[in-house]
Amino acid sequence: MPRKILVTNALPYANGDIHLGHLVGYIQADIWVRYQRMRGNTVHYVCADDTHGTPIMLRAEKEGVTPEALIARVHGEHLRDFTDFGVAFDNYHSTHSPENRWYAEDIYGKLQAAKLIDTRSIEQYYDPVKEMFLPDRFIKGECPKCGAADQYGDNCEVCGAAYAPTELKNPYSAVSGAAPVLRNSDHYFFRLSDESAVGFLREWTQGANLDGIRRLPAEAANKMKEWLGEAGENKLSDWDISRDAPYFGFEIPGAPGKYFYVWLDAPIGYFASFRNLGERNPAIDVAAYTEAGPAAEAGTEMVHFIGKDILYFHALFWPAMLKFAGYRTPTRLCVNGFLTVDGAKMSKSRGTFITARSYTEQKLNPEWLRYYFAAKSNGTMEDVDLSLDDMIAKVNSDLVGKFVNIASRCAGFIGKRFGGSLGTSDEAVLNEYRRAADAGDVAAAYESGDYGRALREIMRLADIANQYVNDEKPWELAKADGEDARLHCVCSTAINLFKALAGFLKPVLPALAAEVEAFLQIPAMTWDDVANPLPAGHTISTYKHLMTRVERKQIDALLEANKASLAPTEAKAATKAASSQQRHGEQQAHVAQREAAQAAGGETLIGIEDFTKVDLRIARIVNAEHVEGADKLIRLTLDIGETENGAPRHRQVFAGIKSAYDPATLVGRHTVMVANLAPRKMKFGLSEGMVLAASDTSGEVPGLFILSPDAGATAGMRVK
Ligand code: MSP
Ligand code: ZN
Repeated sequence: MPRKILVTNALPYANGDIHLGHLVGYIQADIWVRYQRMRGNTVHYVCADDTHGTPIMLRAEKEGVTPEALIARVHGEHLRDFTDFGVAFDNYHSTHSPENRWYAEDIYGKLQAAKLIDTRSIEQYYDPVKEMFLPDRFIKGECPKCGAADQYGDNCEVCGAAYAPTELKNPYSAVSGAAPVLRNSDHYFFRLSDESAVGFLREWTQGANLDGIRRLPAEAANKMKEWLGEAGENKLSDWDISRDAPYFGFEIPGAPGKYFYVWLDAPIGYFASFRNLGERNPAIDVAAYTEAGPAAEAGTEMVHFIGKDILYFHALFWPAMLKFAGYRTPTRLCVNGFLTVDGAKMSKSRGTFITARSYTEQKLNPEWLRYYFAAKSNGTMEDVDLSLDDMIAKVNSDLVGKFVNIASRCAGFIGKRFGGSLGTSDEAVLNEYRRAADAGDVAAAYESGDYGRALREIMRLADIANQYVNDEKPWELAKADGEDARLHCVCSTAINLFKALAGFLKPVLPALAAEVEAFLQIPAMTWDDVANPLPAGHTISTYKHLMTRVERKQIDALLEANKASLAPTEAKAATKAASSQQRHGEQQAHVAQREAAQAAGGETLIGIEDFTKVDLRIARIVNAEHVEGADKLIRLTLDIGETENGAPRHRQVFAGIKSAYDPATLVGRHTVMVANLAPRKMKFGLSEGMVLAASDTSGEVPGLFILSPDAGATAGMRVK
């Protein structure tokens, strides 16, 4: 009986580009789906954009567009990226859709009916300027443990401490810069700490599905054990599922001004995307995949591919929501580890934060990456390292050197000498492939997500094929007299081995496999006919080279294209603009400058290139104090977002503003500083820059006025 499987991938947030880290999980899922389909199983493969929440709302606002316009644009970009990498969803939907609203309200209503929703008042930080409650990530301040500046409200990136936002010292809103105030508001909670929920999750997370496969990978199940605690002890807290307006999401029925938290309706988006597909495709029985009950659950599967960072949501919240709302629970979670590049976290400054778009724009072949990610996937939650030199070596040696090489050495003779028609093959060699197919090692490896093992077995078979060609030397047979029949047999055998390899590789390399199918003039290969040879008399078309080698310089160009250290890029852009202005309009510019100088009463004008030499930055005044023995100076400690060995690095600046300011009133303010002024040694210490202040040079208006940016500017921003 063919299996019927609903496969989903985590829904990417609709406010960022798809990068190679994302692609690990999408490529793994797509390979699994393609493999299942080759086996003759029915698979519905769906995904969507995750569109709700504060970051998307604020991002749209910043771009000056509606959230709807932002998510529509990103939807197109994401879908194009996935398509480029061969990740072929049957439906790519959106959580901001009528289907999703329907399911969210339905599930919420059922949880309410089951008395699993509570309301209670909670105290939370509120931004009085922006007039909104602040998610933890939008509150910054000094780490309560190590004092590092500009840390987020949930954990410190310098010392790793986790804490509540209310523990931050000198908190400020990352949205407006204002000091947040504590406010009360009613929130809705899903009562996960209820005994029924905890009991269910203890059993569910440790258990197996109807096929005897654990629902969670072993490591994940162990984590859940830790999180859930032993029977009797209860570590789960109720889950806060509401957010206050302003929020981009679904308003909660019967609760004006309250919205479903993005993580409530995000996984529901799997159902929404599937139902949307079903609406356009009446042959799909959606309920058979989503309904609870022995009949439905025995007949269909629901498999979620997710990254390890979102395990908590998929192994606890989501199954509990489904269970107590009367839906089926997932059959299996496939969890991928995180991507590192050359052993380190992806980094914008090193250029290893590589977007999917840049990869295709640099004309790199997406199937190189698919192959390498597959080779590095072993079905566990371990992190996956993209070692760039290793990728080059592996693709060149396995795909070009071993696989494509078989066809490129033999196909020409079939075309030129035998009119494109295949002869009989050497059964002995083919049998080796048949045995491998029957043994099912490759199949079992695909099924379990251990694609690395599948590829090692396939490359062992490729070695056998190459050995055969090396031993038989068709290029010598071609020159010898009376060896036509042998030449025909050897080349036909090699083509059949090549076909089998292409079939085994097809889940990983769908585009290459399609080219092979066209070249061999055969219908789309299924798993069952992978190792079946083409009969004598079958005609193939002319061989065209199937894959080029990866060159290191292509990878270097890719890294270069992704390098984005903010200041240098902006400086570069600025000088570029200035120099192109010079090239195109030097004459006019000079004339205009002279005229302007005259109009301004003879003041010397500078060009933009002179202005951009001054590195102006938003600085946050971390500390301000009087300087012993100085009657004009205040010692300022300024944060302009710099770090040194991971720790924040502050600047010391002596400012002549003592007459106008009490140091205590300056702490926490943002101002503007010249960041690239040569440091100056003063009697009191080193001054590493200058803050800007206004004063009336004629002396008529007394006082000094330091500059302040508008609300929203944060430490380190460039001023230009
Ligand atoms: N929107 C949520 C998922 C909701 S699912 C109902 C989300 N989005 S995401 O855009 O941040 O991530 C999408 C997927 O990519 C997740 O599975 C996540 O784990 C994965 N990855 C994101 N960055 C990754 C790496 N650097 N490496 C590997 N996987 C990564 O989470
Ligand atoms: Zn810290």
